Amino acid sequence: MTHFSTTPRHVAVIMDGNGRWAYRQHLPRVAGHRRGAEVVREMVQSCVDLGIAHLTLFAFSTENWRRPALEVRLLMNLFRLLLKREVRKLHENGVRLRIIGDRVPLERDIRQLMEEAEALTRNNTRLQLNLAVNYGGRWDITQAARAAVGAILANGQDPQTLSEQDIAKYLSLAEIPEPDLLIRTGGEERISNFLVWQLAYTEFYFTDTLWPDFDRASLEHALHSFAQRQRRFGRTGDQVLEGDCSVSD
Ligand code: IPE
Ligand code: IPE
Ligand code: MG
Repeated sequence: MTHFSTTPRHVAVIMDGNGRWAYRQHLPRVAGHRRGAEVVREMVQSCVDLGIAHLTLFAFSTENWRRPALEVRLLMNLFRLLLKREVRKLHENGVRLRIIGDRVPLERDIRQLMEEAEALTRNNTRLQLNLAVNYGGRWDITQAARAAVGAILANGQDPQTLSEQDIAKYLSLAEIPEPDLLIRTGGEERISNFLVWQLAYTEFYFTDTLWPDFDRASLEHALHSFAQRQRRFGRTGDQVLEGDCSVSD
């Protein structure tokens, strides 16, 4: 297996292209989503093998409700099935599962399965898998801002004292490092309302490969690209080479 000089701690993925993959095979779109779910399983295993600590996958956006009702229903059925079938294997593999996004509009039994999966896997430390379901970056910032303002008012503080940190600590994934690498498959080069705040200094990698075709070699390609980049966080390249200060602070 390839080893990389710089392995990202946190990889985020916009898994796009399932529908187009299915069209190319003359199959219904849901067949692409099913194949996509198998690729998720392979991706989790690859991340475990490569020692990546955190993996965040965009599975359903706040905008995906705009799709035909049948496709939304089939996607929800697929989540339900995966939550029933895959969680035990994840647990045995030392994976901690977290679901991020607004759960309120989801069906009750799916919410229940999500809570059970999180409770079962909460002490696992090999890989943290964050699944974004009914997630939107703007939703995330809004809910964090609401919580932050609530806390400030409850403490009798002046809202003018609200800081970036006050908001950041209520965001989804506040407890883990921000993504080092964002991969988007399927050829589009946009964020589509994924982790809007958390991607502020993330390295982006776009590939035309459709998600159902994204295999370990594709991941290694992305990691190779990442390993060649110099992350400057606003500083000069010389400063980074001299290592006169920690890169991210
Ligand atoms: C991504 O694949 C999966 C979800 C958004 C749920 P798409 O379904 O968007 O696939 P394309 O973009 O139509 O090919
Ligand atoms: C982004 O894909 C959302 C997920 C992968 C879950 P979309 O296919 O929904 O993105 P847009 O609408 O083409 O930007
Ligand atoms: Mg798409």
